[in-house]
Amino acid sequence: MSWPNDGVGLRVLVLGAAAGGGFPQWNCRTPNSQGGWCQHPGFRRGTQASLAVSADGVNWILLNASPDFRQQILATPALWPQNGMRHSPITHVVLTGGEIDQVAGLWSMRERQRFQLWAHPVVLDSLGDNPLFDALDPHWVRRCPLALDEPVLLSSQHGGPELSVTAFAVPGKVPLYLERRGCSSEGFTLGLEVSVNGRGLTFIPGCAHITANLRERLRNRALVFFEGTLWQDDELVQLGVSDKTAQRMGHVSVAGPDGVMASLQDLNIARKILIHLNTTNPLLNAGSPEHAHAVGQGWEVAYDGMEICL
Ligand code: MLT
Ligand code: MN
Repeated sequence: MSWPNDGVGLRVLVLGAAAGGGFPQWNCRTPNSQGGWCQHPGFRRGTQASLAVSADGVNWILLNASPDFRQQILATPALWPQNGMRHSPITHVVLTGGEIDQVAGLWSMRERQRFQLWAHPVVLDSLGDNPLFDALDPHWVRRCPLALDEPVLLSSQHGGPELSVTAFAVPGKVPLYLERRGCSSEGFTLGLEVSVNGRGLTFIPGCAHITANLRERLRNRALVFFEGTLWQDDELVQLGVSDKTAQRMGHVSVAGPDGVMASLQDLNIARKILIHLNTTNPLLNAGSPEHAHAVGQGWEVAYDGMEICL
């Protein structure tokens, strides 16, 4: 897309639309994943979820650092170095949690490049506990705590327009690799409101259930990316690939009486987009009845390379 040259607006790039493991996932042979492996018509492969947002189309902020960052940047010229011998248009990275599919891309961003890393203090602590993240030298990468419900203004080092980011807590759980430690889930699952000049999006790539407060927060929004990990709660059980339900994994299903579609209907959201799609989710098959049903309910399904300008 060539972005409209009308001053400040919110530009959004979907770098990756799939859940942890990507689509197709490396060890999966369910019918849906087979469609991804064979690239049957209607099955579009996907990398692990991440967005890039910008107020000017020049400076970009990553929302989550996907393990597929390297592949994503290759596919996205706007994120390539633009001048001098060393440069990156990425000025900030904002994390919604500490799952591997949200942080592992940081290891591809370690070559003495200045940027700010924003995350909830518990996520910064868990990165701090892992010496592999010391590869991000604090001299270059400043770690900044995200306070809940307080807007922070993120501007580029060169004084570009500011983006406002507000983090808020959503129901969730601790990252998979911390489950056995029995720590509190508080702070590990955030939503983000990102806006510039009053134009904004809400990004919720993981959510365990949808509360009345969350519904009110989403009412009348211009653009919402909401988690669409599994179509139904027992999808993995029914397929015989896991005994975990969506609930057990900290995800609300897309379908069902308490699912994403039912819970967010009638909130007057202008654009509703499902993201963080698991390799088993029939929404990844554009020819499936589930896909047609979601579209009929006013939902779009995110895909790698999707571009939006607000
Ligand atoms: C999730 O969203 O549930 C996690 O990404 C799981 C995982 O890392 O495997
Ligand atoms: Mn995930």
